[in-house]
Amino acid sequence: MRIDAVSIFPEFFDVLDLSLIGKAQRDGLLELRRHQLRDFTTDRHRTVDDTPTGGGAGMVMKPEPWALALENVLAAPSPAERPVLIIPTPAGDVFTQRTAEELAAREHLVFAAGRYEGIDQRVTDWAQEHFDVLPLSIGDYVLNGGEAAIIVMVEAITRLLPGVLGNPESLDEESHADGLLEYPVYTKPAVWRGHEVPEILLSGNHAKIDEHRRQEQLLRTRRIRPDLYAKHIVAQEEAARRAD
Ligand code: ADE
Repeated sequence: MRIDAVSIFPEFFDVLDLSLIGKAQRDGLLELRRHQLRDFTTDRHRTVDDTPTGGGAGMVMKPEPWALALENVLAAPSPAERPVLIIPTPAGDVFTQRTAEELAAREHLVFAAGRYEGIDQRVTDWAQEHFDVLPLSIGDYVLNGGEAAIIVMVEAITRLLPGVLGNPESLDEESHADGLLEYPVYTKPAVWRGHEVPEILLSGNHAKIDEHRRQEQLLRTRRIRPDLYAKHIVAQEEAARRAD
């Protein structure tokens, strides 16, 4: 997979050189290219922002440096497929595990990190000519810029690429893989500071252990995320109806 990330703080993405994503880059599974938006300005001060048309607080990112930066990304040899342009914004569709799965199947992702009050809307409109454009939010809160959101999305997407995780089986059991939260996990010792591991987990009876874990998943999801639980129940009812 190829990923380009454009920002006025490209050093933000240095954390992606660590750990599993760093290794994925060194192993050639992922090519991560970072670009300084200010390199695509034409004035002495390398200006990327201007006052909002129509008035209001804060500053807006000017469209032209973005167009030049994105054209520069398109000019480099790239995978044949039409690239996806992801614009992190609290006003976007919510990024979920399903989104991560869909994006992990694409060959070329381009991330555009807005700062200030955001990027001139016309960049999103213009970019549709060249990219599948996705404004995405990582949750209902506001960050200072898109960089931290990009790191979150890149991590969630790239860990799904074949060869990135040491033990790919863990993908099947983690939270959100099947729309439910993960069951609680334990390691040794069996009693720690007076707190015990559930006895069933020491039984060696794998069918019973699986059943116990499934029950814990359902209880936990119903308690912590009733929204996900309700969706799960609806999906199960639909599956049962289809099976009839
Ligand atoms: N930029 C600022 N806040 C954001 C959020 N919640 N998600 C994605 N991008 C953002």
